[in-house]
Amino acid sequence: MTDETSRTDSQAAAVEKMAPLDPELWRPDFPILSTVLHEKYPLVYLDNAATTQRPRQVIDSLVDVYETKYANVHRGIHWLSEQSTDLYEEAREKVRGFINARTTQEIIFTRGTTEGINLVARSWGDEQLGAGDEILLTEMEHHANIVPWQQLAKRTGAIIRWLPITEDGHLALDALESLLNSRTKLVAVTEISNVLGTINPVAQIIDSAHARGIPVLLDAAQSAPHRGLDVQRLGADFVVFGGHKMLGPTGIGVLYGRRELLETMPPFIGGGGMIRRVRKDGFETADLPDKFEAGTPPIVEAIGLGAAIDYLTKVGLSAIHDYEQMLVSRAHEVLAAVGDVQIIGPEPKDKVGIVSFTIPGIHAHDIAQILDRYGIAVRAGHHCAMPLHKQLGLTATTRASFYFYNTLIEVDKLGAALMETKKIFRRGSS
Ligand SMILES: Cc1ncc(COP(=O)(O)O)c(C=O)c1O
Repeated sequence: MTDETSRTDSQAAAVEKMAPLDPELWRPDFPILSTVLHEKYPLVYLDNAATTQRPRQVIDSLVDVYETKYANVHRGIHWLSEQSTDLYEEAREKVRGFINARTTQEIIFTRGTTEGINLVARSWGDEQLGAGDEILLTEMEHHANIVPWQQLAKRTGAIIRWLPITEDGHLALDALESLLNSRTKLVAVTEISNVLGTINPVAQIIDSAHARGIPVLLDAAQSAPHRGLDVQRLGADFVVFGGHKMLGPTGIGVLYGRRELLETMPPFIGGGGMIRRVRKDGFETADLPDKFEAGTPPIVEAIGLGAAIDYLTKVGLSAIHDYEQMLVSRAHEVLAAVGDVQIIGPEPKDKVGIVSFTIPGIHAHDIAQILDRYGIAVRAGHHCAMPLHKQLGLTATTRASFYFYNTLIEVDKLGAALMETKKIFRRGSS
């Protein structure tokens, strides 16, 4: 493969030296990044919006718990159970600090972003919404922030309204005021689009909703890993995110809820751990956060998430954001140099390290398959955002998404492989 984009690897490496973050300092911690594919291509992992990779420190934390400190939590009075309970609760405190919540009672461990939204829709939504009430979503939501509300609407007779997007991939904020009214009971919005990469002005949306007494749920699946979160500064009522997109294990996520709201909500799932007392004729629920953590929780996964937060804090969220800005700006340049590439979404300054694109005449899956031949992992399809794709008049896009361990050289390799892709298809069609 020849690199027909404008600069050499050594030039790219020189630019990287001046970057806000040196990926080469961190890459050795990620064993999977040294994978070589098809016997000659080093893995170029550009599917970070789907899930990130894990550093040795996170993997070791899982092994360490299983090997030396594993027992069920909150149940035993034996030494081992105390060890695992302490580590599990320490992880909750790390999450609290990471998002600046007031208290660990506001941190509910879930199995992921999707479960967090379902918890709110079932527990809060079933109690609060009735026929004719409205839920405001946006056209750029992930299915995880659409389907639970559609299910709620079906159960209650509530109506879903949609904040539109503009042609350049922003939210059409001028439509917001006219969509909020006395029937609106919730605004549920993503802070960052998993397709467009757009960073949404959620503080402004929260202020507008709160001015009318409407609570806001923030889907932070794509923002927590790349920009961090300050729930007190934002003032959101519910915030959800998952561990696996921020170096942590799968099967662990976080629901932050304002304590006043969580206290009024009934449990989502019933069973052990979420009760204070059970009689034959009923039960009393435990205090927060246990009320929402029925059954044996994802103990080791939560501890692994704590290790991921330690690691991210060491790298620095603001350095991660600044460095991703470099990567995504370079990606826009490289894709422009390839030619015939249509990038979906805003300019680099308004987004994180996500670039979704189409090449007319070549299907997204074909692009991804050819990139895979060069060891480059990207995602192709609707990315769990079918309404957004429909709105854009597309059925599928190819998405390259970056994290702080990606390099400028890897971005250039993406450009070179896309050149090859175009050549292969031109040859095929001539
Ligand atoms: C914006 C957004 N919301 C929600 C989700 C769902 O996350 P999970 O599948 O980890 O529950 C994703 C995952 O891609 C996402 O990007």
